[in-house]
Amino acid sequence: MTQAVCAQKAPYAVDLAPGEYYWCACGRSASQPFCDGSHAGTGITPVAFTVAEAGKKYLCGCKSTGNQPFCDGTHSKI
Ligand code: FES
Repeated sequence: MTQAVCAQKAPYAVDLAPGEYYWCACGRSASQPFCDGSHAGTGITPVAFTVAEAGKKYLCGCKSTGNQPFCDGTHSKI
């Protein structure tokens, strides 16, 4: 399996409507923080998550969070 790459050393603050989303776990998507299929061949798969209430979410950009798909502050240590 290929390692995830850091897309940015900060979370993505996104306003999300209720629904299902796919967070990019490999770091290669051009549509950060969401999957665009660029993980093909890496062995890494996107993380599906559901938003129940509309609002701002902080999605991990460094791809090293311990709480996928959300930022847990790990980016400050890399
Ligand atoms: S952006 Fe990855 S832990 Fe904050």
